[in-house]
Amino acid sequence: MSKTILILPGDGIGPEIIAEAVKVIACLRDDFGLAVETQEALVGGCAYDATGSPLPEDTLNQAKAADAVLLGAVGGPKWEPLPIAVRPEKGLLGLRAGLGLFANLRPALLYPQLAAASTLKPEVVAGLDLMIIRELTGGIYFGQPRGVETLDSGERRGFNTLVYSESEIERICRVAFDIAMQRNKRVCSVDKANVLEATELWREVAIKVGQDYPEVSLSHMYVDNAAMQLVRAPKQFDVMVTTNMFGDILSDCAAMLTGSIGMLPSAALNASGQGMYEPIHGSAPDIAGQGVANPLATILSVAMMLRYSLGAPEQAERLEQAVESVLDQGLRSADLASPGTKTVGTAAMGDAVVAALRASG
Ligand code: IPM
Ligand code: MG
Repeated sequence: MSKTILILPGDGIGPEIIAEAVKVIACLRDDFGLAVETQEALVGGCAYDATGSPLPEDTLNQAKAADAVLLGAVGGPKWEPLPIAVRPEKGLLGLRAGLGLFANLRPALLYPQLAAASTLKPEVVAGLDLMIIRELTGGIYFGQPRGVETLDSGERRGFNTLVYSESEIERICRVAFDIAMQRNKRVCSVDKANVLEATELWREVAIKVGQDYPEVSLSHMYVDNAAMQLVRAPKQFDVMVTTNMFGDILSDCAAMLTGSIGMLPSAALNASGQGMYEPIHGSAPDIAGQGVANPLATILSVAMMLRYSLGAPEQAERLEQAVESVLDQGLRSADLASPGTKTVGTAAMGDAVVAALRASG
């Protein structure tokens, strides 16, 4: 039976990079028998412009009904003056909450072909392969109360709430341990247990869950140290598990170790394996519309989708190999350009991946 993918191009470079991912999906369908259908809908700033909401009800309903969602990116300067409640980012957060996508998988993998593109010394990053598991539907991003209030003195005060229940911590830790079992069996739980009670509880629950995984070694790190260790000696990590906000920050940091944030895919999964897949880089309004954005993070997000939501791991592998072969050919988008390589635009990069896929058949 054919599976449904909801495509949400979004804003900024979103439509350009998604167009390349759609070419790849079409190739897998037409040439390799992948049984999928695609639909498209609006989210983010473009949805706000068209409907007054960054997450129209139709979009949320289509997302709920789909087997997987592929998202480009949302946001841009045009919508920054809007109230937070209708900003493009709310569309993304609404999808995460509405679909219950609590587990965010953010791999940081250094392709050997790109070792020179990292700002870190090659020996620090060569062979890097770590997975950040970020809690995605709780913590300070969603905690109540939140807002900005005006005090009697007339001064304004802004506040947000960091809150985690035991069950929320437990389920994300289980995801991390399960994934560690498929990898190098090491989990580092990142918290700020020396200062924040909510993350003291996080550490306690992580230890408890770890007792069910005797083969996995569990360590703990404060988030400030974790940020430092990520740039000092990133290869010490296998799986890192952390809160929504810490994961947001650490995953950008980990991304840069790999040479470009333009290479990193992500998956956000719910309890039933339904997922939303997106590049982690965002809408990059500064280069939108120029045809220079790197589509590989989006294409690699399709690979994660094949693996985690569409039950097609062999197609995932085929696609990842096609990306490697394009890098082997020396093709680079502008973000990865280095001496001796050939700089290509967004569409040419997508076409090259499709050509490599076809050649593998
Ligand atoms: C991310 C992004 C989002 C987040 C923004 C766009 C809301 O930075 O996915 O990392 O903070 O979660
Ligand atoms: Mg982020």
